Amino acid sequence: MTAGDAVQVDSEILALDRVGDYFHLTLAAPEAAAAVRPGHFVAVAVGGPESPMLLRRAFSIYRADARAGTIEVVFAVHGRGTEWLATARRGDHVNIVAPLGKPFVLPTSPVPCALVAGGYGSAPMFELGRRLRARGCRVDMVLGAATEARLFGVLEARRAADTVTTTTVDGSFGEKGLVTGPLGRILAEQNTAVVYACGPMGMLAAVAALAGEAGAHSQCAVEESMACGIGVCMTCVLPVIGDDGVTRMVRSCVEGPVFFGDRVRWADVGTVPPDTFGAPKPGGH
Ligand SMILES: Cc1cc2nc3c(=O)[nH]c(=O)nc-3n(C[C@H](O)[C@H](O)[C@H](O)COP(=O)(O)OP(=O)(O)OC[C@H]3O[C@@H](n4cnc5c(N)ncnc54)[C@H](O)[C@@H]3O)c2cc1C
Ligand code: FES
Repeated sequence: MTAGDAVQVDSEILALDRVGDYFHLTLAAPEAAAAVRPGHFVAVAVGGPESPMLLRRAFSIYRADARAGTIEVVFAVHGRGTEWLATARRGDHVNIVAPLGKPFVLPTSPVPCALVAGGYGSAPMFELGRRLRARGCRVDMVLGAATEARLFGVLEARRAADTVTTTTVDGSFGEKGLVTGPLGRILAEQNTAVVYACGPMGMLAAVAALAGEAGAHSQCAVEESMACGIGVCMTCVLPVIGDDGVTRMVRSCVEGPVFFGDRVRWADVGTVPPDTFGAPKPGGH
């Protein structure tokens, strides 16, 4: 089974390490690695072949190495599927589909960019930062989390960006507060043209609003609940305004997970707004 460039393979677990509050998983996936771009995700089958957990779990791809034939993800234990994955061992196999989704779009000219991430949302940002700098773009990165243990990749960020600012809600590392504090300063000082963001929905909504006020373009990788991951089930839809100004319920697994920040109706995520194309009319049949 494939979706676009995606392949489905039984992938060997090469490493599984604890990093702060997260797990760093390295998978052998030579068939998939070369096609990965920042913003792509992988859908992992959990629980083993006999498992009643039928739905795959989605994870942003942190790194892909075409020469080594590996892809890596960083995950937090959330519920039963990620609990199972955290107990896997080197040499075990998991069935994966990758790369999935539409990745971040890179600017064609060397413009100043801000990369903003919450928690494990930093995973796709390092390779994105490297690719932007290779094109001559200035890269200011802001990494935020609730606590120090939930920040991922601060040292790596310093190698992938011109500046790195960290925030924690509890003040245990970096500035106390939210990513929007430093982002506001960066937007004011650096004439930022594009803001790239990955993290929780509330953060993405706030980042997209700040970018819009500053006249910057934004691209946000959303994390909407997914079931099939390949565009069939409509579990992952969210209201997005099209080029024609019409709102449609759009599948984040195939049309996303990266969306232009000014096109997502953030306040209406989780609902079907009445003015959405094809929405049921009140009193209709
Ligand atoms: C595009 C994308 C990228 C993601 N990247 C990462 C990542 O890099 N690292 C990471 O730790 N997590 C990531 N997630 C969230 C991750 O998919 C969920 O934490 C995981 O599915 C939870 O599975 P579970 O069995 O542990 O939890 P359960 O709550 O038992 O999951 C049951 C089902 O609910 C859905 N679900 C539950 N929580 C979420 C959630 N927060 N987002 C989406 N679906 C959810 C899933 O479809 C799952 O099949 C990403 C999600 C998406 C959609
Ligand atoms: S998860 Fe099934 S359509 Fe997106």
